[in-house]
Amino acid sequence: MPVELKKDGDFAVLTLNRPEALNALSFSILGDIGRALDEVAAMKDIRALLVTGAGDKAFCAGADIKELRNRPLIDQKRGAELGQSVFAKLGTLPVASVALVNGYAFGGGSELALACTFRLASPNAIFGLPEIKLGLIPGYGGTQRLPRLVGEGRALEIIMTGRNVKADEAERIGLVNAVVEGDLMQAGRDFAGKFTRYSLPVLEFARRAVQRAGDVTLEEGLRIEADLSTLAYRTADAEEGMAAFEEKRKAEFRDG
Ligand code: HXC
Repeated sequence: MPVELKKDGDFAVLTLNRPEALNALSFSILGDIGRALDEVAAMKDIRALLVTGAGDKAFCAGADIKELRNRPLIDQKRGAELGQSVFAKLGTLPVASVALVNGYAFGGGSELALACTFRLASPNAIFGLPEIKLGLIPGYGGTQRLPRLVGEGRALEIIMTGRNVKADEAERIGLVNAVVEGDLMQAGRDFAGKFTRYSLPVLEFARRAVQRAGDVTLEEGLRIEADLSTLAYRTADAEEGMAAFEEKRKAEFRDG
């Protein structure tokens, strides 16, 4: 199967599995990712999603160029809308997602990583939005999510030159949360393990508040923060967390 979804303890693991084409995203694979993310949204007993690519060469080399070339224009528009809507699902999942970038992440591959909550990279990871070299521009969210992460000037430079961004630079400019040596899957579990013991709904409120920060005015963002922090305050987990503080014990959250 070109897209595999399995459960691994507290985690759902989504693997792009088309290593012979460096996990390139055909329209059919985009559809599979969308369906897999719907399944993740319905999973009851997971605390985070890990996203990776099969093989040791690529996370994902982007949209399938051979397929793109042979599609009429109307399909290209649908393709961009499909890619955008599939990747947007990552933002509305009840759990956070961590992209494990184990090699090339080009074009749609970078955009998939950008749509995840967090990104970890192996030292050989190489990011890029090289669409300009094909006479194209990014179509699966890259022009919008990259500047939110690294700032407009850097994003414009990366998109307009189509240059590669190696792992160490990606870390320096905030494109990835960390570069990790060794077993990337284990690093992903360890990274997610730093937040998965906290209350799932409260983690979701935090994610929603921060995600909106790039979209709205400060005034509106502060209103969103006040609403979501009130929702958090009303949970039994907030009651437990504050009681545990006073009683000098570890909080036991129950996701409610
Ligand atoms: C289709 C791809 C592919 C892609 C690699 N392959 N990338 N097929 N679409 N995006 C295939 C190759 O054709 C080849 O198959 C096999 O994978 C191995 O790739 P090689 O090129 O032989 O490997 P290597 O020489 O190591 O080079 C790796 C690479 C290069 C630097 C990552 O493959 C590359 O530049 N790929 C294209 C990256 C790119 O431009 N991505 C952005 C796409 S546009 P065969 O059968 O020939 O052996 C996009 C958004 C478009 O993502 C917006 C739409 C709205």
